[in-house]
Amino acid sequence: MSIQFLDTTLKNTTVLASGILGNNKDILERVYNNGCALVTMKSIGPEPRDGHNNPTVIDLGHGIINAVGLPTPGYTNMEKEWKDLETRDFPLSASIYGGSVEEYARVAEFVSKQKPDMIEVNISCPNSEKHGMTFGVHAKSAHEVVSAVKKVTNVPLIAKLTPQALNIAEIAKACEDAGADAICAINTVGPGMVIDIESGMPVLDFKKGGLSGPMIKPVAIRCVYDIYKAVKIPIIGLGGISTGEDAIEMIMAGATLTGIGSAVKTRGINVFGLVTKEMTRWLDRHNSTIDSIRGAAH
Ligand SMILES: Cc1cc2nc3c(=O)[nH]c(=O)nc-3n(C[C@H](O)[C@H](O)[C@H](O)COP(=O)(O)O)c2cc1C
Repeated sequence: MSIQFLDTTLKNTTVLASGILGNNKDILERVYNNGCALVTMKSIGPEPRDGHNNPTVIDLGHGIINAVGLPTPGYTNMEKEWKDLETRDFPLSASIYGGSVEEYARVAEFVSKQKPDMIEVNISCPNSEKHGMTFGVHAKSAHEVVSAVKKVTNVPLIAKLTPQALNIAEIAKACEDAGADAICAINTVGPGMVIDIESGMPVLDFKKGGLSGPMIKPVAIRCVYDIYKAVKIPIIGLGGISTGEDAIEMIMAGATLTGIGSAVKTRGINVFGLVTKEMTRWLDRHNSTIDSIRGAAH
């Protein structure tokens, strides 16, 4: 099921979502060896940042709520990770964020020297006061960030969007106009909140968090459907995919690649191989190909 995406040939459509398994080469390599075609790193920021206090991740059964809060060693404190990743033999997407347009550009400039195959610009995290989502809910700021990053790197750029934008298609178009080579949608939905009724207290230490997993799939499908109509660049459809059938639905909405995050927890690290096998089985049964069903819902 090999597929061309930007400048890279991928073995199938599955992508490890950012933030799920960190930045350690051995772990990312294991994900690739378990069937994942494109591995996304945890979002990297400008300065060291601890993230929020525990509890930060709660399994709700029908999905996850998290307020990890973008912990990062900061791009300059990742020498070992970058050194190890130099010798990788798998496609890598490096995710970045900043607290200002200048910070995004600074992180992108450094990260592009580490030669990832692509850079994902995270303008969509809901769990930090001033990073991420602030830039992704307005077309103007989304355009500013992507333009600034585009000026400092030749590495293909993916803009990662938030479903909290009033009109996500408009944000996607602004990113395309600013030079984005692809869109990734969606980041977590929310923020949401869970209260423990025995203590009467919010369960997350940060109180609010982003939702992911099966419960957000219909939101992700709708976002990809809207974006597909608005842009010409390819889309990584992400949000609630845990089976091959989910991935097929995402491709019918208009996605080229299919991201997987929370399902790594429910189905294990070999979820990528399983999803690809289930997709192939579905396509064979329906005498179809990925290309023939992309955007079928339109
Ligand atoms: C624990 C956790 C940490 C995450 N960290 C990041 C991150 O650092 N950067 C980012 O762009 N998205 C992050 N995300 C969002 C995921 O990449 C993905 O967009 C979201 O979980 C929806 O996909 P899913 O339903 O398959 O999990 C995180 C999600 C979770 C559950």
